[in-house]
Amino acid sequence: MEKEKFYMTTAIAYTSGKPHIGNTYEIVLADSIARYKRYMGYDVFFQTGTDEHGQKIELKAEAAGISPQEYVDGVAAQVKGIWDLMDTSYDKFIRTTDKDHEAQVQKIFKYLYDKGDIYKGHYEGLYCTPCESFFTESQLVDGKCPDCGGEVQPAKEEAYFFRMSKYADRLIQHINEHPEFIQPVSRKNEMMNNFLLPGLQDLCVSRTSFTWGIPVSFDPKHVTYVWLDALTNYITGIGYDCDGNSSALFNKNWPADLHLVGKDIIRFHTIYWPIFLMALDLPLPKQVFGHPWLLQGDGKMSKSKGNVLYADELVELFGVDAVRYFVLHEMPFENDGVISWELMVERMNSDLANTLGNLVNRTISMSNKYFDGVVRNTGVSEEVDEDLKAVVTAAADKVTAKMDQLRVADAITEIFSLFKRCNKYIDETMPWALAKDESKKERLETVLYNLVESISIGASLLESFMPSTAKRIAAQLNTSLRSLDECKAFGLYPSGNKVVEKPEILFARLDINEVLEKVEAKKAAQGKALPKYEGVADLISIDDFGKVDLRVAQIKACEPIKKAKKLLKLQLDDGFDGGRQVVSGIAPWYKPEDLIGKKIVIVANLTPVKLCGVESQGMILAANCDENTVKVLFVDDSIPNGAKLK
Ligand code: MSP
Repeated sequence: MEKEKFYMTTAIAYTSGKPHIGNTYEIVLADSIARYKRYMGYDVFFQTGTDEHGQKIELKAEAAGISPQEYVDGVAAQVKGIWDLMDTSYDKFIRTTDKDHEAQVQKIFKYLYDKGDIYKGHYEGLYCTPCESFFTESQLVDGKCPDCGGEVQPAKEEAYFFRMSKYADRLIQHINEHPEFIQPVSRKNEMMNNFLLPGLQDLCVSRTSFTWGIPVSFDPKHVTYVWLDALTNYITGIGYDCDGNSSALFNKNWPADLHLVGKDIIRFHTIYWPIFLMALDLPLPKQVFGHPWLLQGDGKMSKSKGNVLYADELVELFGVDAVRYFVLHEMPFENDGVISWELMVERMNSDLANTLGNLVNRTISMSNKYFDGVVRNTGVSEEVDEDLKAVVTAAADKVTAKMDQLRVADAITEIFSLFKRCNKYIDETMPWALAKDESKKERLETVLYNLVESISIGASLLESFMPSTAKRIAAQLNTSLRSLDECKAFGLYPSGNKVVEKPEILFARLDINEVLEKVEAKKAAQGKALPKYEGVADLISIDDFGKVDLRVAQIKACEPIKKAKKLLKLQLDDGFDGGRQVVSGIAPWYKPEDLIGKKIVIVANLTPVKLCGVESQGMILAANCDENTVKVLFVDDSIPNGAKLK
């Protein structure tokens, strides 16, 4: 029988910087769902990737003194590196700078324009650069951007707009008729009441204020505004073609079965995205799930608070599967979840080292101690076995029921209930007491068999969430992981099989103080590495330095300024058309004729100022030799005008 397809996606991460543990939570959550769906027998296609255009990225690249493409190549590699470190099983990693994606976005834009759904107009409002959003006065909070709290500037831009209102009624009807479309349901109410019912504004879908984006093919001073570019990744990544030549992969997989996104971007996915799809005459995704946010200790993670956690740093301390466990297990279904060092150490010790690790360890050790590692089902059952078997064989259906609702934390809890039940079984049967009585030898064999069998089932169910731990347990028990159906039957572990001689520790117990010391030591090492130079200004980062644009320029003309004895007015060839004029306080040391023809260094991106009524469009570099002497920095004649200093 042909398998049923299941196409699922995560949001694509911005390549503005390294993803933190909150972004990483999403891919781990998606991965556990993708793995479980495959386990249930679906033919899963799982797509993730990076969102690489926009002004913020353009500015970051400029500050770093590299091209936007170089910048996003670096961050995309970091994102992929972390996704791979976390053992995530995506089938496709799309980048919005992929050429085929860019070509499709251009076609889609044109198609929607020709259709009349996109029109040209003007955007006017208060603009927040980091958020790339316009706001009205009333939307501001204390006069600042309502999203990031930063400064906003008045701005007006020619822009293309998408006629959202044309499709709003159809979308409202769709949402009402498909209660499963927006999950959890609380997010649906928010969308309806706050956005759809009050009336949809048309959406701005192009920008002219920056260039790092996909140009509008028929009006290239415009670039596609990032959401139309970003959202379409879900169709372009699997081979959608706006001209009607979509790939077989697309035809098989669209519509998506699940878009998994954070609660902050659910609006884009449940309003704008479905409307774009309607305009393209494509069916809508079956479900958009808005997961909650992961917070760290005292609230939202932010670089300025210094509380940003990164997956790779946590993995160094705890290991991949432990980090997967923390984020999956600690995140509630709807409300935000919190992780802290204390909580992670507590989970490590009680759930992973004790409940799971110790169970596996004890079972293997006892099998070796009493039977040289051979596990036999002697069939000497007692009543107490029945409850164990019932709990263990019911687990698969319970986990599936939770996963059907995407209640991943609850699914994991079900699996750990199975392991807890096994630990209780050890207390109930007391194998060490049975071992003392030769007549109970066969009963002891059955007890150990039941434990090995139960752990095999538990490990198989655990594989979607903690893949390498599941495999390590199976290897120690010398068995393979089971299919979902095989987890519903008891007794499939081959009687007479031999477990490994020496169990390896799955999770080592940790001491919270030692962990905190390591964290502090790392922070201090990062801090200590920074030198302090007496009399020199505070340290800046390379990003800060990158903001200063230093260029070589040649002095073409120079004259004194009558009203100001100290100033000279210089005309420069800075390598750009028209050159520029700079005013400099070097008259006490230089005569104009000494300077003409010389090459110097200028700060080329200083805001222009007027000095004694004369405009200065930059600054020339000079050295203070002593209190009374200043010398201009002359550079080699062979350096071309306009060359950038790095
Ligand atoms: N690029 C957009 C998404 C475009 S999708 C067509 C974006 N990128 S992001 O890098 O800011 O966020 C990626 C995902 O991580 C989003 O789903 C976002 O909600 C999620 N998270 C960001 N911070 C998070 C937490 N602290 N906790 C959980 N998820 C978080 O938005």
